[in-house]
Amino acid sequence: MTIPPVLSRLRLPVIGSPLFIISNPDLVIAQCKAGVVGSFPALNAREKEGEPIELERWLTRITEELDRHNQANPDQPAAPFAVNQIVHRSNARLERDVEICVKHKVPVWITSLGAQEWVNEAAHSVGGITLHDVINNRFARKAIEKGADGLIAVAAGAGGHAGALSPMALVQEIREWFDGPLALSGAIATGDSILAAQAMGADFAYIGSAFIATEEANAVAGYKQMIADSGASDIVYSNLFTGVWGNYLKPSIAAAGMDPDNLERSAPSTMDFGPNRQKPKSWKEIWGSGQGIGAVKEVVPAAVLVDRLEREYRAARDRLFRAVPA
Ligand SMILES: Cc1cc2nc3c(=O)[nH]c(=O)nc-3n(C[C@H](O)[C@H](O)[C@H](O)COP(=O)(O)O)c2cc1C
Repeated sequence: MTIPPVLSRLRLPVIGSPLFIISNPDLVIAQCKAGVVGSFPALNAREKEGEPIELERWLTRITEELDRHNQANPDQPAAPFAVNQIVHRSNARLERDVEICVKHKVPVWITSLGAQEWVNEAAHSVGGITLHDVINNRFARKAIEKGADGLIAVAAGAGGHAGALSPMALVQEIREWFDGPLALSGAIATGDSILAAQAMGADFAYIGSAFIATEEANAVAGYKQMIADSGASDIVYSNLFTGVWGNYLKPSIAAAGMDPDNLERSAPSTMDFGPNRQKPKSWKEIWGSGQGIGAVKEVVPAAVLVDRLEREYRAARDRLFRAVPA
């Protein structure tokens, strides 16, 4: 099993996952400086017509700040950053965004919703690696056939468009045939769970919801606080809001006037990543989250969250070694 050099020197085996609207340069820079991979969806960088391209500005800022950090801290360099490309037919920006990421030599590319060879080739042309997210073994094989370097197994309980499979089943089946880089996504919010992901056979924990409750995240205060106040039983799995199954905070659904325990099913997929992507007004404040947020008790700077994860990770490792001596 080999970890690509770009991901081999993280402080913790963690990738801060891309979050629609929420991931911004402040969060990515804070995650990378704290020693874990920071990422954002390219589509989060939006300019109004006639304005300079926002994605260019974001990539320039992230690269320059991380370079400065690395010069000042050669012993504790920042982790690399990643950009998420939604490879879906409704994403009219894909070609332009890929071109910009090539120009900026993005080191890690996360692809979602459709594996395409040309995107992998673009990443490889500048020395980047691609990780493709999948919810089952069939999509995993397809992604590797199309040239992805690694996989993100999105299991049950993840925030956003979650899978329905147990993380243990999913990782086990992928590991039967794939020995490349593998991240596990879904309800990971403690150092103990990061270690569990590794014990199962994954190389990295892919963490989203816990980073919503950070000072840097681009989310309203009420959303951050709801993450800090809620636990697994406050999450509902529904396909009503986008046409694709995902996990949402029940209190936000109740606040929008619906009964979270009696949601209708949606018509077939209404996913749209084009310029008109927006939720109906009454759904604007329906907030996504995975099931792991019971571990999140307060809104803190991202670096403080990473410190907690590291403390817990080390303590869990020590506990295990004591229980089962090498
Ligand atoms: C609010 C929200 C928005 C998300 N947006 C994206 C996205 O734009 N692209 C993507 O690949 N994944 C997206 N995800 C999924 C995450 O990248 C990741 O798989 C998930 O958050 C991990 O599970 P966790 O939230 O339980 O840690 C989103 C998740 C959440 C909660």
